[in-house]
Amino acid sequence: MGAKLFCLCIAFTLVAYYIYSPIPENIEQPWKLMLTSAVLRTLGHMGEAAEWLGLANYMDVLMLLSATEYMAPTSDENVTVADTEFSGVAVRLFLPKKPTEGLRRAVLYFHGGGFCVGDAGMKAYDFLARRTSSQLNAVVVSVNYRLAPKYHFPVQFEDVYSASKFFLQSRVLSQYRVDPTRVCVAGDSAGGNLAAAVAQKLLEDSEVTNKLKAQALVYPALQILDLNLPSYQQNADMPILSKSLMIRFWSEYFTSDPSLREAMTSNRHVPAQWGHLFQFVNWSTLLPDRLKKGHVYTGPAFGSPALAEKYPGFLDPRAAPLLAAEARLRGLPPTYILTCQHDVLRDDGFMYASRLRAAGVPVTHEHAEDGFHGALTFVTSPADMAVGHRLMGGYLQWLEEHL
Ligand SMILES: *[C@@H]1O[C@H](CO)[C@@H](O)[C@H](O)[C@H]1NC(C)=O
Ligand SMILES: *[C@@H]1O[C@H](CO)[C@@H](O)[C@H](O)[C@H]1NC(C)=O
Repeated sequence: MGAKLFCLCIAFTLVAYYIYSPIPENIEQPWKLMLTSAVLRTLGHMGEAAEWLGLANYMDVLMLLSATEYMAPTSDENVTVADTEFSGVAVRLFLPKKPTEGLRRAVLYFHGGGFCVGDAGMKAYDFLARRTSSQLNAVVVSVNYRLAPKYHFPVQFEDVYSASKFFLQSRVLSQYRVDPTRVCVAGDSAGGNLAAAVAQKLLEDSEVTNKLKAQALVYPALQILDLNLPSYQQNADMPILSKSLMIRFWSEYFTSDPSLREAMTSNRHVPAQWGHLFQFVNWSTLLPDRLKKGHVYTGPAFGSPALAEKYPGFLDPRAAPLLAAEARLRGLPPTYILTCQHDVLRDDGFMYASRLRAAGVPVTHEHAEDGFHGALTFVTSPADMAVGHRLMGGYLQWLEEHL
């Protein structure tokens, strides 16, 4: 009896130890976040083991999450939901049922998941799109672009770009009864990256006559030049998205060759001949003082040119919208950026907000002091984390007012 109880205590302690992770004290409902984080961590360990044993790629195991969270397209009383293809790219469409006389708004949405995982049919993304569609009376096109490691850059970008370009044709907009002057792009995390890249590329595409009304970027990933920003240092072990997982996602976007990941981990992947690009991610000038505290800007450390020659994508503004020159940013539409304090990607969003403002683009930058990466994707019912609901509410409110 005593021995059994002892074993039980040990087992309980080990489980509690495994689940426990330090959570910043201003985050609400820390146990919910810890449990979610423990599930993700377990998947990560399974992925590492499967990869080490040669059974599967790490990302195939993380993909189990998208698979278990998958929902078939299901219409409800407010929204008609259907899967279809735009220009050969899979999309999930959300069409409001409410009868309206005039034309409707539209949101082109790109889900997150580090270019490697995620699906427009995941409960959380389906929930967000459904809510967007019914609250804004908007057509939502949620794009299922192809993922790494099977497909690398620029496939993800090209998929969202072709689907967007297809939708922006006047005859297609009119088929869905969409007002051509009220279309925006939006996305979270890797999807925020794709939204920013699509908005930039559309500016120089003479074949597209219908312009975007707005772009909304939810904790976007915007650059791979400097992976040692204060936010990467401060949040390296934060739940949901650690620095090492983000580096894994970034490197996997370009190649499965582990040498790129290793170079990125030591932040020596950019060769000196590309040094001029560092002006666009110079956090010494682009970040507010309160975020810099405790960190000293030292300038870049350069690596060998071999990786940049083999995988030039990481220097391409279509993968790193922060690397676009100012002249290119000038024509961008009004922009919403959400950043979270406890997020490795926080400083990417801050720097893009600074650069867009300097280029004369109207920017609404919402910064959540109690936010963490992925906060919006843990909301699939009214009972879920309050911070996620609040941030989703802010994002939808902005769209309501600017789209
Ligand atoms: C449909 O919209 C109404 C009014 O906004 C809302 O109360 C209801 O919960 C919505 N239904 C679903 C299934 O979301
Ligand atoms: C970054 O900005 C600081 C301050 O203006 C400057 O001293 C430094 O040379 C800049 N670094 C780069 C790489 O542009």
